[in-house]
Amino acid sequence: LTCNLFVFVLIDSCGIFVFVTVYFCRNEVIKHIIHAEFAEWLGLMHYMEVLMMITSIEYTAPISDENVTVTDTKFNNVPARLYMPRKQSSGLKRAVIYIHGGGWCVGGSAMEPYDLLSRWTANKLNAVVVSVEYRLAPMYHFPVQFEDVYTVVKFFLQNSVLVQYGVDPNRICISGDSAGGNLAAAVAQQLLDDLEVKVKLKIQALLYPALQTLDLDLPSYKDNENKPILPKSLMVRFWSEYFTTDVSLQEAMASNKHVPAESSHLFRFVNWSNLLPEKFKKDHVYASPIYGSSMLGKKYPGFLDPRAAPLLVEDTKLLGLPVTYVLTCQHDVLRDDGIMYVSRLREVGIEVIHDHIEDAIHGVLMFITSPTDLALGHRVANKYIEWLNINL
Ligand SMILES: *[C@@H]1O[C@H](CO)[C@@H](O)[C@H](O)[C@H]1NC(C)=O
Ligand SMILES: *[C@@H]1O[C@H](CO)[C@@H](O)[C@H](O)[C@H]1NC(C)=O
Repeated sequence: LTCNLFVFVLIDSCGIFVFVTVYFCRNEVIKHIIHAEFAEWLGLMHYMEVLMMITSIEYTAPISDENVTVTDTKFNNVPARLYMPRKQSSGLKRAVIYIHGGGWCVGGSAMEPYDLLSRWTANKLNAVVVSVEYRLAPMYHFPVQFEDVYTVVKFFLQNSVLVQYGVDPNRICISGDSAGGNLAAAVAQQLLDDLEVKVKLKIQALLYPALQTLDLDLPSYKDNENKPILPKSLMVRFWSEYFTTDVSLQEAMASNKHVPAESSHLFRFVNWSNLLPEKFKKDHVYASPIYGSSMLGKKYPGFLDPRAAPLLVEDTKLLGLPVTYVLTCQHDVLRDDGIMYVSRLREVGIEVIHDHIEDAIHGVLMFITSPTDLALGHRVANKYIEWLNINL
């Protein structure tokens, strides 16, 4: 029995820092969770700034290697890390625009696992990879994150720019994990209505994406409320922080009473009673929504906006989306967001490949670098990159 041990920092429901020591045994099962509280840290810094500081320990410089030239650059003034394969090839190259995760609050393209994933993608596909460095909460709220990504994608999709990088306009993918999967899905939808963009995405890859804000009591939220990496309390914190630092939204979201009655018509887009296969419903019973005050919806309309919650669009808005890859993890609060999007896309005839990983928790693609270098992380990353290689 081989065990890997690592230390993660999470935040519990009271907003107290907890150090969580997780043991992975046989790369799958979390055997023990031990935590200690560091309440004295509270008040010193904004909670997300502390998380940011912790994740920034993993930041890497843009160092080229034998296969890939890596540079930090800007596209229309938005920073991005660019990976250009060095291998000489006669024809045009494929391209992947990658959007990192981190709950719209933390993370970065330079984080070691993201940097490595981009190198692998560039190398394996001989593709140009653009990893977007969008601005983060709490300094910036919605729609800044969305707009930064949209700006880069729109700039890159210009024919003159594609020529400059030797990219085939018919072979471009948008891809992202977690909050990045949210941004990728939202950008892919909004591009469909943008008459200025002539180049179409060939595929989109959504890796355990967050896709809806309305129902934070889905079976996956209930089943995985206290799972490591992304407990429900942290996901609620990320969602609310995307729109505002005002705790009233966070509190309303935590009790799932944040959606005003005026928006009741949106619930059909996230009705898990219709959209989840039986296997994921288990013994959960669908309950009608409980509405909150209309004040929150007026103050923070972002959480009802499909640019933040891509599941909240009419079916007609899904038509024209590219072939889609959705990765979901069984032990993840966001599992059902991804599965409901699979159902909705398939209902309107979009080709979807759904990889569901039974033995994974949220963020599994991050487990490809030390000290959390797991066979499971490599297996899932290889599966995803292989899909890109075949379909792009
Ligand atoms: C470069 O590519 C080769 C072939 O895919 C691989 O074996 C090697 O490890 C790569 N080098 C780096 C630094 O990733
Ligand atoms: C959700 O679906 C169930 C079963 O089809 C239905 O009874 C319920 O009214 C729906 N609720 C909403 C809000 O769409």
